[in-house]
Amino acid sequence: MTESVNGVQAIRWQGGVLQLLDQRLLPVDERWIDCRSAAETASAIHDMVVRGAPAIGIAAAFGLVLAVRSNPATYAEAEAVLAASRPTAVNLHWALKRMRAVWTATPDVARLEAEAVAIFDEDLTQNLTMAHHGAELIVPGSRVLTHCNTGALATGGHGTALGVIRTAWQQGRIAEVYNTETRPWLQGARLTAWELMREGIPGQLIADGAAAHLMSTVKIDWVIVGADRITANGDTANKIGTHMLAVVARQYGTKFMVVAPSGTFDLSLAHGGLIPIEERTAKELTEFKGAAIAPTGMRAFNPVFDVTPAHLIDAIVCERGVVTPPTTAALKALLG
Ligand code: MRU
Repeated sequence: MTESVNGVQAIRWQGGVLQLLDQRLLPVDERWIDCRSAAETASAIHDMVVRGAPAIGIAAAFGLVLAVRSNPATYAEAEAVLAASRPTAVNLHWALKRMRAVWTATPDVARLEAEAVAIFDEDLTQNLTMAHHGAELIVPGSRVLTHCNTGALATGGHGTALGVIRTAWQQGRIAEVYNTETRPWLQGARLTAWELMREGIPGQLIADGAAAHLMSTVKIDWVIVGADRITANGDTANKIGTHMLAVVARQYGTKFMVVAPSGTFDLSLAHGGLIPIEERTAKELTEFKGAAIAPTGMRAFNPVFDVTPAHLIDAIVCERGVVTPPTTAALKALLG
């Protein structure tokens, strides 16, 4: 079974049970939740017990294994429930499609389980490869800014954007990491800060609104982010606020890197305007830990992803290589 190289792991497959580190409770509590059915797995994905594009793909794959173990006839129903759990990250649908191809060819539970384990293991391998590709773009002494959580918690291990940062730091290329809080769910403050501190990577948390001030007053070499879906032309959906960081980065001469495995690309969509953007409950904005932080009855618009246009991206790093700058032709050549 996959072992995360930095000791942080959010997903375990043990004794036929899917165990998920409950990311809603970090960094205060480290508690694990057991999923024993596809429905429980879908709820865990929807409720963000497990989150991050590659991680929800891995969890969904094991959700299908749980379904066919109890009743092979429930495959299609389980697949539909899992597919509906979150809309934006294409990795979820990519993993379900890959599992479907295996089940159609060989409707055997052990074979399906082997495929889920392969998806899990390959994700870590791909992250390590991307980390080396991405780190090569970073000159020693660099300061970088990252958004959301793209580390071991969001993946099968090591991370995508945070994987590049982790490896670049190990190679002596990083002087300082700035990470945004990432409102409203606080993936940056709660999760990325937790991962950085566990490894002693020098980091400073900033309010999301401090990014322009930071980039205009301190030389930031790279903004490095992950992705939930990248379309054929390189437009990239990622955590809300990513687009704003790309605009500010371009304004102040900071380069912008997107790091994502091939399962994050959706070449069936021509451009980012076609990506479904998840909207979550207004309570994420009007309440904090159940206490009101806005007047009762205030309406709120809570899209949790946005789309960064390809022209604001300097490099897309994938396990298959680096595209810089991203264009439709270059991405097609990379991904086939
Ligand atoms: O809502 P989340 O926490 O699932 O959003 C996660 C992100 O936006 C990440 O940046 C993205 O999934 C890449 S993770 C390797």
